[in-house]
Amino acid sequence: MTNTAETANAVSEAAAAAEIETSGIATPKRKPARPPKKDAAKKSTSKKDRAKKAKGKKAGRKTDGAKSAKGKKKDKKGKKKTKVPADKFVLYQESVQNSEFEVRFFQRAYRKFRGTTPSVLREDFCGTALVCAEWVKRLPEGRAIGVDLDRPTLDWGRTHNIEPIGDDAARVELVCADVRDGDKRDVRPDVVAALNFSYCCMKRRADLRDYFASVYRSLDDDGIFVLDCYGGPEAQQPQVEITEYDGFDYEWDQDSFNPITAEATCYIHFKVKGGPRLEKAFRYDWRVWTMPELTDLLEEVGFQRTDVYWEGTDKKTGEGNGVFRISTKGDDSDAWIAYVAAAKR
Ligand SMILES: C[S@@+](CC[C@H](N)C(=O)[O-])C[C@H]1O[C@@H](n2cnc3c(N)ncnc32)[C@H](O)[C@@H]1O
Repeated sequence: MTNTAETANAVSEAAAAAEIETSGIATPKRKPARPPKKDAAKKSTSKKDRAKKAKGKKAGRKTDGAKSAKGKKKDKKGKKKTKVPADKFVLYQESVQNSEFEVRFFQRAYRKFRGTTPSVLREDFCGTALVCAEWVKRLPEGRAIGVDLDRPTLDWGRTHNIEPIGDDAARVELVCADVRDGDKRDVRPDVVAALNFSYCCMKRRADLRDYFASVYRSLDDDGIFVLDCYGGPEAQQPQVEITEYDGFDYEWDQDSFNPITAEATCYIHFKVKGGPRLEKAFRYDWRVWTMPELTDLLEEVGFQRTDVYWEGTDKKTGEGNGVFRISTKGDDSDAWIAYVAAAKR
């Protein structure tokens, strides 16, 4: 990843099919990259609040790296800590991605349109190609093509995600290229995926339209395009959200938002417990596209049907429940994430 920055539960196809029909798409371990739904307020701080917190720290707050009396590194509750490497890609994958959920989601969205299982995935903006690896692990006959502009990120992915999967690696191809050139390749994928809002780096409507059109042209006639979208009032507010993971903290920093252009600059910082802080590990210069802007563009370039998968609400907590269902009416959450699946025909 140039400028910026999982739970193996085998689920039978029958169970998976039943799930989508009855309860939508459930993830056992939802790890939203960016603003999680509804609970964001609990963990988020405005920039002002953050400044106050920083002051508090200087005034003598214990740091995460504090040692217990015995000298072993423990967390505040005295539990032994998991050691995580201070590698921004490892930390990113742990906190931001859930490749198992995503691959299951692609399969189900495809099945919903076509009634069969897809075989060829193209993962655009693939970064470390974690999703490609999961795809070929789950689909013994499947193939995956990962496309990303950044060679070092692809190389990291090949070493850490693709080579370790053994013989399955032969069914993964990593391509260092611009995603907009996808239609110039011979392969006709069943699914093209662009996740974690990566397309937001395209700020001009004409550029995003060109990209969507190239995806349309490159897909198999039965193919589908899957992307995600985020929004809600909080998506337009400078704030920092800190999420604690085993061995490290993940910080989503919405540094600035320009309402005139809908451009946002965001960062991911990591703090390894008992280890270094990775300040600005990833930077994102985005346009925050709205859902109707996306669905209009998809229609404009030829996609015949677009399903929006909206996350349900946990009645007890009022937070997102990790279950995504096809919906035409969302709710007015302060922050939300949704998936879009667009069918070529
Ligand atoms: C936010 S990361 C996405 C990583 C991963 N796919 C995920 O879901 O978390 C965005 C990636 O897009 C790549 N990228 C940005 N613009 C691109 C383009 N025009 N063509 C191909 N890759 C691009 C960057 O190098 C970076 O690795």
